[in-house]
Amino acid sequence: MNNGTMKAVGVHPGKREVALLRHPAPRISAPTELKIRTIEVGICGTDREICTFAYGSPPDDCDYLVLGHEALGEVIEVGPRVTAFKPGDLVVPTVRRPCPHSHCVSCRDARQDFCFTGDFTERGIKMVHGYMTEYFVEDQVHLNAVPPDLRDVAVLVEPLTVAEKALAQLWQVQRRLNWGGNGAAPGAGKTAVVLGAGPVGILGAMALMVRGFRTWVYSRSPEPNPKAELVNSIGAKYISSETVPLAEFARMTGPIDVVYEAVGVAKITFEVMKILGLNGAFIFTGIPPEKPAIPVEADTLMRRIVLMNQAIIGTVNADRTAFEDAIRDLGLFKERWPDSLRKLISGLHPLENYRELLLGKAAGIKNVITIGA
Ligand code: BGC
Ligand code: ZN
Repeated sequence: MNNGTMKAVGVHPGKREVALLRHPAPRISAPTELKIRTIEVGICGTDREICTFAYGSPPDDCDYLVLGHEALGEVIEVGPRVTAFKPGDLVVPTVRRPCPHSHCVSCRDARQDFCFTGDFTERGIKMVHGYMTEYFVEDQVHLNAVPPDLRDVAVLVEPLTVAEKALAQLWQVQRRLNWGGNGAAPGAGKTAVVLGAGPVGILGAMALMVRGFRTWVYSRSPEPNPKAELVNSIGAKYISSETVPLAEFARMTGPIDVVYEAVGVAKITFEVMKILGLNGAFIFTGIPPEKPAIPVEADTLMRRIVLMNQAIIGTVNADRTAFEDAIRDLGLFKERWPDSLRKLISGLHPLENYRELLLGKAAGIKNVITIGA
């Protein structure tokens, strides 16, 4: 820090620039706020998309947006009415902040992940600065405590919340079939397919595995490759869509109870929808950029969705419970697959490498920027 400013990586949509900036250091301005020193920030497809200027927006009073929504930090200062944290605690912040409207029952109920008005904000994405900087200030209600023994993997909490929110909805929807959401292994005897082997896909596969699902990951790259190795190392089965066509894949899996889409590409996703089983659920998490229309077998799909009682669910963002579930599950994953979990973080980089990470060719699995040790 110098002159009350700090290093930050941000986008400047007006100038169509991604840059290392000097950004004012934040100060606690309400009694329930905390000041946090950023330790690590993960980079995801959303950040890379914001850097194409197709998505994301700066705060109203600023011409740039500080990026970063997947963070781990250490509390360094607490406001006088902070009850839940003390300096030295590790925290992971949530992403979305509620809209201001009194009629939005979701936001008023701390469920801004289901905001009805669309006037929510998101740190590092929509109208509020993110965490790709040295310090940030946040209210205690938007922070989650992380046990010290998860420090090396806690940057994965936010991407894991995608799966946690998805699974919470899966149990709700499948209660129509008396699927147990509370039992020790609610997925026992059931088959799940994960589409895509990026961080959201692999973390989703881990979450499905610990709940007892027979888990397949269908992704493009032929074997051998590091993602396939990682998937197979946790006891899920990696299958390349380039070497195994869909019909053959369907014969291998047998009836599919759940598809967890984490690829963000419509073509393969709608093809896989044709092999979802009876009473199955199909969960979309990917956010593809706008693209020209493509043909889909719409009548076949519609017929199957109805005759097979299928549920199609889209899910975005995550509530506090999903963060708490992710922190708990990350502990389980670390016990069960310590090496695999660590390999998910394929690179630790200094902030100065931001260009290559945000604008270069996507490489590795989860790339992380280390800001403070
Ligand atoms: C983030 C979510 C956010 C979504 C849409 C994702 O990358 O993880 O928190 O809601 O982008 O902006
Ligand atoms: Zn993300």
